[in-house]
Amino acid sequence: MANQDKINELIEKRAEAKMGGGEKRIDSQHAKGKLTARERIDILLDDDSFEEFDMFVTHRTKSFGLDKQLYLSDGVVTGHGTIDGRIVYVFAQDFTVFGGSLSETYALKICKVMDMAMKIGVPVIGLNDSGGARIQEGVRSLAGYAEIFQRNIMASGVIPQISSILGPCAGGAVYSPALTDFTIMTENTSYMFVTGPKVVQTVTGEVVTAEELGGAKIHSTRSGVSHFLAENDEENLLLVRKLLSYLPSNNLEEAPILPCNDPIDRLEDALNEIIPENPNQPYDIVDVISILADNGEFTEVHRNYARNICVGFARFNGRPVGIVANQPKYYAGVLDIDASRKAARFVRFCDAFNIAIVTLVDVPGFLPGTGQEYGGIILHGAKLLFAYGEATVPKVTITLRKSYGGAHDVMSCKQLRGDVNYAWPTAEIAVMGAKGAVEVLEGSNIRKIENAEEKQEYIQKKEDEYTAKFANPYMAAKYGFIDDVIEPRNTRFRIIRALELLQNKKDVNPPKKHSNIPL
Ligand code: HXC
Repeated sequence: MANQDKINELIEKRAEAKMGGGEKRIDSQHAKGKLTARERIDILLDDDSFEEFDMFVTHRTKSFGLDKQLYLSDGVVTGHGTIDGRIVYVFAQDFTVFGGSLSETYALKICKVMDMAMKIGVPVIGLNDSGGARIQEGVRSLAGYAEIFQRNIMASGVIPQISSILGPCAGGAVYSPALTDFTIMTENTSYMFVTGPKVVQTVTGEVVTAEELGGAKIHSTRSGVSHFLAENDEENLLLVRKLLSYLPSNNLEEAPILPCNDPIDRLEDALNEIIPENPNQPYDIVDVISILADNGEFTEVHRNYARNICVGFARFNGRPVGIVANQPKYYAGVLDIDASRKAARFVRFCDAFNIAIVTLVDVPGFLPGTGQEYGGIILHGAKLLFAYGEATVPKVTITLRKSYGGAHDVMSCKQLRGDVNYAWPTAEIAVMGAKGAVEVLEGSNIRKIENAEEKQEYIQKKEDEYTAKFANPYMAAKYGFIDDVIEPRNTRFRIIRALELLQNKKDVNPPKKHSNIPL
């Protein structure tokens, strides 16, 4: 064969691989509103940066007539490229080849990019669209999944791992995305479940659609399995790019600092007015975050799940931070099981990847009741407490309004190694609210008063006394639990200065194999 013939053969093979499962299946993929694996990679990565690995890999199965169905790449496109000039590794499952199902060789391809990403210290992005284990390969496919899971576990906390779910993700296959840091689902075309609707009906008799069981909306609102909800493939992939802009490439690096054109000493009079006079009136904490952060930009994580707490990424003077903020707009910002789990995981992610945490506190306490107690709020609330206490990244806490009881301690208080703790003059830092406190402390006196009007007057008087004494930041400031009471309009500047002050902070935990966070 002449050299040119050999080169032509290569060109032909490449062209064949790029066709995946063939034109008909590509058309069917498009008809479902989905892009192909390679089209997705094109959107995800910087132009012309993709270098593919293992394009010529095929499966090794001979049974079920599979020896006559060989597709170059074997249902998954793998390689590396750049996002905003930074290297990432990527694998994209190709639904046009055996429904994107996972064979032994396909798993090896994914493992190779994961191993390379670990060696180099760069993120791995998985684009999932697969019918799960390739049925014809049986246990070899299961072993392949387990190889991937093991790598997900080893990479956890070392390099960022992001999963885009762009089609089906069923059976044990859901556990690889679940082991990664962030999962982004696409509306109407993606779903995740451990057992599909047919099995559910057979085993439990429950009739449920795929969308109801594990669609993007359900996982973004009810289960919290998905951190982001995208309208379509493109939005999903652009979200990955945005998310990565806040993250370092690995746990030994700092997150990238971008040039900032938003003045650091921007005074915001609106913040002086933002807390309503009535302490029970809600406001939107996202408005506060938007006013404080660079250029009003805030990338909210889990926006539709456990909305009583708000978490996400923003920048202060170009420096990425994780924000955790109680959200008075939903259930008065109370801490419950879901909110505790959501925030705890986010705090731990930030800590693992050297991202400072800014906490905005307005929390009336933990949600009381049997629903929460039976669900294990003690353990789940402890997760958040644990996460804050264990975190060694810079922690800046601003108490805006309520900070009561156990919830005060949990929300990055001074004694959980909060580095800089400020409060607004509107802060109320106490064991509990006036109503509850008076009921406990004055119960016997109140019961002695027979006249209803007098009783009410007495309660009001005691509540007012309690409020005047405790519903303010000065008791905490008096003991140094709050470093300073600040004027709300100065908050942006004070946060930026605190973060700069803390940039070389060193805090360590004692040597141990790992902690035993209450799960
Ligand atoms: C082999 C598969 C396959 C699989 C789909 N295909 N899933 N081939 N193994 N797991 C093939 C189909 O035969 C078909 O081939 C093509 O992919 C497209 O599939 P369709 O069914 O035509 O597509 P669609 O109607 O969109 O339905 C997609 C689907 C469905 C919902 C994913 O295919 C499905 O239910 N598949 C099985 C899902 C499943 O139960 N997987 C095992 C889960 S257990 P042709 O040649 O017709 O194009 C598991 C264990 C992992 O994954 C354990 C890890 C611990």
